[in-house]
Amino acid sequence: MLKRAKISVIGAGNIGGECARQIAFKELGDVVLLDIPNKDKPELHMPRGKALDLACCGPVENFDARVTGTFEYEDIKDSDVVVITAGLPRRPGMSRDDLIQVNTGIVKNVSMNVKKYAPNSIVIVVSNPLDAMVYVAWKETGFPASRVMGQAGALDVARYKTFLAWELGVSAEDIQGLLLGGHGDDMVPLPRRTSVNGIPISDLLSADKINACVERAKAGGGEVVKLMGTSAWYAPSAGTVEMVEAIVRDKKRVIASAAYCEDEFGVAPGQKGKGYFVGVPCVLGAGGVERIITFKMDETEQKFMNESISHVKDLVAVVKKMFPEYA
Ligand code: APR
Repeated sequence: MLKRAKISVIGAGNIGGECARQIAFKELGDVVLLDIPNKDKPELHMPRGKALDLACCGPVENFDARVTGTFEYEDIKDSDVVVITAGLPRRPGMSRDDLIQVNTGIVKNVSMNVKKYAPNSIVIVVSNPLDAMVYVAWKETGFPASRVMGQAGALDVARYKTFLAWELGVSAEDIQGLLLGGHGDDMVPLPRRTSVNGIPISDLLSADKINACVERAKAGGGEVVKLMGTSAWYAPSAGTVEMVEAIVRDKKRVIASAAYCEDEFGVAPGQKGKGYFVGVPCVLGAGGVERIITFKMDETEQKFMNESISHVKDLVAVVKKMFPEYA
């Protein structure tokens, strides 16, 4: 008998809740929202409340998806896809290393449970710092690298395309573009490979204008934080759900995702089992990251990529130092 996909979202905060909404509205499968109890208000059950509220959109939005909320990992049993959004956002006064320490602890605990209850799932990590957290999830679950990936590129590319579309006065749908490398500041722009339905953007915009769009995409997260006092959730969720959809519908979409690389783009050449998760173009389908598409970069692109790779390695080095089991 054919079954609906089961998609569990760990962390029912801003991104987790919005991911659940988009997954249900697109009828990608049944959704389980998992979070932890609120220590200060033990009478509350936030994931169950969000799930109930969301489920009641069904008759209006015409979707058939079961949406449930839970504190119990048993409920994610046999999930096809698990999205990990659990973690703290960086707070004022918190150093990068403090954030790594706290979120590594959280993602470690989540991943142990994913391994136990959803051993055949495909895992998409959203928690920050992304390039390090996806590494932790890979190590802790022990899953093949094709079944563990991180969401960053889908969001960065969406921001990049949005700003280009505004600048050009055309539909964002007609922009094709790619960004590689780490998340945000660490992204590697590829304007040479960006087009409007095949027309190179360099034929349509000045180098300064293209560069301004790249820079705005890089700083896109910070721009939202400045405006709202908290980090974004609509676009990060849209990027994540784009990946979920590619997987559950076996679409073979080519989406920039943080995927495990060794030789690819010179990440860790010849270092079997000692690679890193870096944003690269991935074919996403029922098998997870089914293929990484590589191509020859020019000198400038490769230089940016090398810098990005070295930042990812620095982040992972901090994790390995704090958690020697991942060394
Ligand atoms: N298990 C499950 N959920 C947890 C755990 C845990 N061990 N620890 C924290 N959480 C939950 C929190 O209770 C909260 O509901 O994770 C949720 C995080 O939600 P928000 O604080 O709203 O953060 P959000 O904006 O959704 O971002 C989540 O994604 O982009 C990254 O930097 C961001 O790391 C952050 C994550």
